[in-house]
Amino acid sequence: TKIAEADEVVDKGHYRHFMQKEIFEQARVIGNTLQGRIGQHKVLEQVFGTSAADIFDQVQRVQIIACGTSYHSGLVCKYWLEDWAGIPCDIEVASEYRYRKVVVSPGTLFVTISQSGETADTLAALRLAKELNYLASLTICNVPNSSLARESDLVFMTQAGPEIGVASTKAFTTQLVSLQLLTIVLGRRHQLSAEREAELVEALHSLPSLCEEVLSLDPEVLEMSEHFSEKHHSLFLGRGPQYPVAMEGALKLKEISYIHAESYPAGELKHGPLALVDSDMPIVAVAPNNDLLEKLKSNLEEVQARGGMLFVFADKDAGFKNNGSTKVINLPHVPASLEPIIYTLPLQQLSYHVAVLKGTDVDQPRNLAKSVTVE
Ligand code: G6P
Repeated sequence: TKIAEADEVVDKGHYRHFMQKEIFEQARVIGNTLQGRIGQHKVLEQVFGTSAADIFDQVQRVQIIACGTSYHSGLVCKYWLEDWAGIPCDIEVASEYRYRKVVVSPGTLFVTISQSGETADTLAALRLAKELNYLASLTICNVPNSSLARESDLVFMTQAGPEIGVASTKAFTTQLVSLQLLTIVLGRRHQLSAEREAELVEALHSLPSLCEEVLSLDPEVLEMSEHFSEKHHSLFLGRGPQYPVAMEGALKLKEISYIHAESYPAGELKHGPLALVDSDMPIVAVAPNNDLLEKLKSNLEEVQARGGMLFVFADKDAGFKNNGSTKVINLPHVPASLEPIIYTLPLQQLSYHVAVLKGTDVDQPRNLAKSVTVE
């Protein structure tokens, strides 16, 4: 199958599906997203356009609007903006935002995130925002000359290249990279020090090769996927910035394998979802070795005590062991700033393999469209 996107012809190469190809392209396209945007120790400011500096100087708050997978990248950005930059951030799905009365604080930057740049609700939200007293609008977008790109004051292209699979993969991780650059550039004007910026940028330089390393775990993820193909329900857990990563993992699985997948912040387990846990309910957990690890572990013990089978994507030093009720995939230790990007990769591979085992239409899941241009 060849699909013509603008003037570029995109084919699957030696891959079986576009989604699989797009998963494996991530190390390269993340490199492209960073190319010309970062120096050795800092983010180059002019990458947000020549008028950005004046606007960024005035930013006191950020409002993010998006749909679907793009909404999940925005959720991660909220953690980054508040933690690293000390800038308050609100985020909402476009279809809710556009139909309610909103209160705009002075100095708020309005940010849309979109692969296609054509999602009807996101575009309508931008048009509405222009009537309100936002400082300016910025879009993080993958399609040049799309409606969002044309109508926003500032545009930052994700450089993921054409994404054909309906389930978004490389658009998501390049959005995360772009949002990290935005956080740094805004953060500099607030609490983010030059030293911290240098650390973050150094981590970004190592990101493409870390992605390669993690993507090479594919055979292990394939093996794990066999435990899911007969299941009807699943639960994805994470804490902190890994909660939106769990949300995205669950969305991928439901979109292409049609297995009901719910995501929860692990600390909420006891407020309801624990009642669902039994041996028929696989529980996927995202477990980097950070300061939330011990909290997450005690949440997972509660799951095991109720006979749930655990599938853990863990830092190799996080202390998880494979046994009858726990399957672990060990990931290399990565800087905390990269965790949401790195831990997304094997979750994409998991949903891909489960869908292939189930024989669903991976690239064109039933009832879904790549770009939702009508309400
Ligand atoms: C559709 C697609 C999703 C995508 C969402 C938002 O639902 O199937 O993969 O995340 O739209 O699209 P956007 O182009 O605005 O990122």
